[in-house]
Amino acid sequence: MKNDMHDWKKAYAPAAQQEFEEHQGPVLFYNETVIDHFTNPRNVGEMADADGYALIGDPSCGDQMKLWIKVEQGILVDIKFKSFGCPGAIATSSMATVLAKGKSISEAKKLTDDDVIRALGGIPENKAHCSLMGVGALHAAIRDYEQRHANVSPESDSEHAP
Ligand code: FES
Repeated sequence: MKNDMHDWKKAYAPAAQQEFEEHQGPVLFYNETVIDHFTNPRNVGEMADADGYALIGDPSCGDQMKLWIKVEQGILVDIKFKSFGCPGAIATSSMATVLAKGKSISEAKKLTDDDVIRALGGIPENKAHCSLMGVGALHAAIRDYEQRHANVSPESDSEHAP
C-alpha cells in the first residue's frame, strides 16, 4: 500500500509541477497576509453589550458568521466576529473588521468586498465569494444597529439591548 502511494506521487508530481509552471491564469494560492489573518484572525470573540448584531450564512457552501458591533457617537469603536467558515472567509472577515474598526457608520457602509480583497493583497479567484461573508455581516449588523436606533427615543438611547 505504501509503495502504491509512493508510485502514485512519483507519477503525479511531474505532471502537477508542469501544470503549475505553465499556468498563466488567476491566483491559486493564499498569500502570506491571507494566511496571517487566517491563522491569527483579528477581533475574534463575542460581545455581550453589542449595539448591532448579525448572523449570516452562505447557502452555496453552508458557512456561517456572527458579528457584533459597538457604536459610540456614530463610530464603530469595537467589532467582534465568530465564523464557521473556510480560510478565505476567516481571513477576509478578519480584514473587514480591521478596516471597519474606528470608522464612522457611513464610512463602514461604503466598505466593499473589493476593498477587503485589495487590503489582503488578493485572494484566489474561486474564493472571492468568501469575502462577501465579512462585509455582508458587517453591513447587516449596521442595519440592525440603525433599526434599533430608529426605534429608541433619545431619552433611552443608552439602553440598547444586545
Ligand atoms: S467556501 Fe464558504 S465562505 Fe469560503
